[in-house]
Amino acid sequence: MGRTFNQLRVVTFESRFSGEMSGLVERLGGQVRRAPSMREVVDPHCPEADQFAEELLAGRVDMVVFLTGVGARALMTTLEKTHPRAALVDALRKVTTVTRGPKAVAALREWGVTPTLSAPEPNTWREVVSVIDAAGRANAESPARTAGLNGRRVVVQEYGESNPELLEALRERGAEVKAIPIYAWALPEDLGPLQEAIRAIAAGEADILLFTSAQQVRNVLRVAGELGLENEFRAALRRTLIGSIGPTCSAALRQLGIGVDFEPDRGKMGDLVRGMARSAEMLLCRKRASDASGVDVNTASRVELIWPADLCGHRLDPLHDSAFLRACRREKTPYTPIWIMRQAGRYLREYRDLRAKVPFLEMCKRPELAAEVTLMAVDRLGVDAAIIFADILLVVEPLGVGLAFNEGEGPQILRPVRTGKDVDGLKEVDPVALSYVFDAVRMTRRALRPDVPLIGFCGAPFTVASYLIEGGASRHFQNTKALMYRDPGAWHALMERLVPALSGYLNGQIDAGAQAVQLFDSWVGCLSEEDYREFVLPHTDRLIHAIKPGSPIIYFGTDTSTLLAAMRDTGVDVIGLDWRVSLGRAWNYLGYDVAVQGNLDPVVLFATPAEIERRAKRILDEAEGRPGHIFNLGHGVLPNTPVDHVLALVDVVHEYSARK
Ligand code: CP3
Repeated sequence: MGRTFNQLRVVTFESRFSGEMSGLVERLGGQVRRAPSMREVVDPHCPEADQFAEELLAGRVDMVVFLTGVGARALMTTLEKTHPRAALVDALRKVTTVTRGPKAVAALREWGVTPTLSAPEPNTWREVVSVIDAAGRANAESPARTAGLNGRRVVVQEYGESNPELLEALRERGAEVKAIPIYAWALPEDLGPLQEAIRAIAAGEADILLFTSAQQVRNVLRVAGELGLENEFRAALRRTLIGSIGPTCSAALRQLGIGVDFEPDRGKMGDLVRGMARSAEMLLCRKRASDASGVDVNTASRVELIWPADLCGHRLDPLHDSAFLRACRREKTPYTPIWIMRQAGRYLREYRDLRAKVPFLEMCKRPELAAEVTLMAVDRLGVDAAIIFADILLVVEPLGVGLAFNEGEGPQILRPVRTGKDVDGLKEVDPVALSYVFDAVRMTRRALRPDVPLIGFCGAPFTVASYLIEGGASRHFQNTKALMYRDPGAWHALMERLVPALSGYLNGQIDAGAQAVQLFDSWVGCLSEEDYREFVLPHTDRLIHAIKPGSPIIYFGTDTSTLLAAMRDTGVDVIGLDWRVSLGRAWNYLGYDVAVQGNLDPVVLFATPAEIERRAKRILDEAEGRPGHIFNLGHGVLPNTPVDHVLALVDVVHEYSARK
């Protein structure tokens, strides 16, 4: 699975941190080629610097913007040759100092200067301007130093090429702007490694290029041109992944007609390398497939990009051999597979962006959107299985009870089922009514990478019945139990209605291309074992036996410690555990002839990455590397969960379990 580079050939163009970067690529399993593409040249006789010193000391400067740590230090070294540092520092303390990122902040601190303003991440020129704007607004009423830019004398310490957008934005606000080009980027003295790398790339001998600055992009293309290889180089990029450190670098790539395949959320070298490692195999396979079919991978939607399995160099039956399906069958796996319940949801920015435009139920009913969201979660997380984007309550709509998902309130059944008469009034469900889900499964399966299984799902009879009866979420399940205890005939009649509806729904998903199915019995833990065995188990058992053989079945519930043996006795392949039980003890109790899924408390994802790691390792230790463990949360991922923390979980599960 694409959690390491898996021997893919990676070219890095970084110069100053070349060693660090290539070390990281190697540790993540890449074959690295170092092609430093820049050299910093400090201008020792920078006339702008001399002039700056005079003006700063004479009090004719209002604001100094420091764009880089190296540049800030180089500037100070130059100025110190002709002026005492103490006087310079003193003068800097009197003006507004603005830093673009943490390295510039560190340089100023070394001199004993605390920057007046620091731009937040992602530390581009845009943040520099907006932090100045914000300070201007805050001080609009007072004559403070930072108020407005109109008529102010601003000096910008530049790096490499000038940043005309920043200078222009400052001038637009009325500032009088001067730039100090204290150092420039030149080509490296020894061009050999870069030229060799460009020849290799042009010959199709690289899989991934990693750019960490805009200047690298320009230098690389310049050298490719000088070698007379520009056309070959560009053509090869259609089958090569391009990683970019951040927005400015990406803009430079796009300006030169090169699409960006991956850009991390934060502009950190480690995030670029690790993020690329996580998705490289998948992105590369898709990029090459789309190149062959003439679809542009950088503009097409995920659904449009169809996987021709043969292009990806996979084994004969990559699905059957996937870690997830092997674990369902309790076979050995090279690492513990992981997926996350509710992995496609509101904690993902991409999901919220889509959802802002389309109501939830409509998203479910438009197969191309449901497929897009399903694929999005797999792309983003690098998990070992996809789960089709749908809901356990879709199946109740064709029963004729009315279903609504109200913003912020959760699902609502408009005409709840409370009596035997209500049960009699339910319509029979023709699976055709749910064919939009089957279409989404078909579409997803076509566009999903060929070694990632797709999970279909439904609500288990009890949990679906509880929504039908309560009309929505519930704490005590009072109406549900009342029907059970007062009118057992009506209860059993309701369950008998649900079983064929649910089995038709699941089998439709299997026919459309789902490799496994999960029954969500989220609320069954409110029952005693006795009630579970009398009122629920026979129906769940019939449902399970009506599912087409050949697709593993996962049976998940919460608060089920007392029900586990009964749940296992249905003969399912995998039991889903919540976090209230110890995975080790529960598995021992269930017996090792059933697989288990779980069971990190979803709330742990709000702790620090170190704590998440500790607790994830504890669960893996409890599983003791036995075949048949699928890592998951103990319940669905919560809406405000930081995505970074989910990624950290996926990484630690893959890395730690592979070592065991
Ligand atoms: O796991 C996935 O990524 C697949 C999609 C999926 C959804 N719901 C999408 C959804 C799955 C597997 C479900 C299952 C589901 N739905 C369960 C069982 C799992 C569990 O969490 O116990 C239950 C009880 C439901 C019913 C349901 N649907 C509720 C209670 C809510 C509202 C609360 C909430 O979590 O938002 C929904 C809405 C729902 N279902 C959303 C999603 C992504 C949020 C809709 C939105 O965008 O506002």
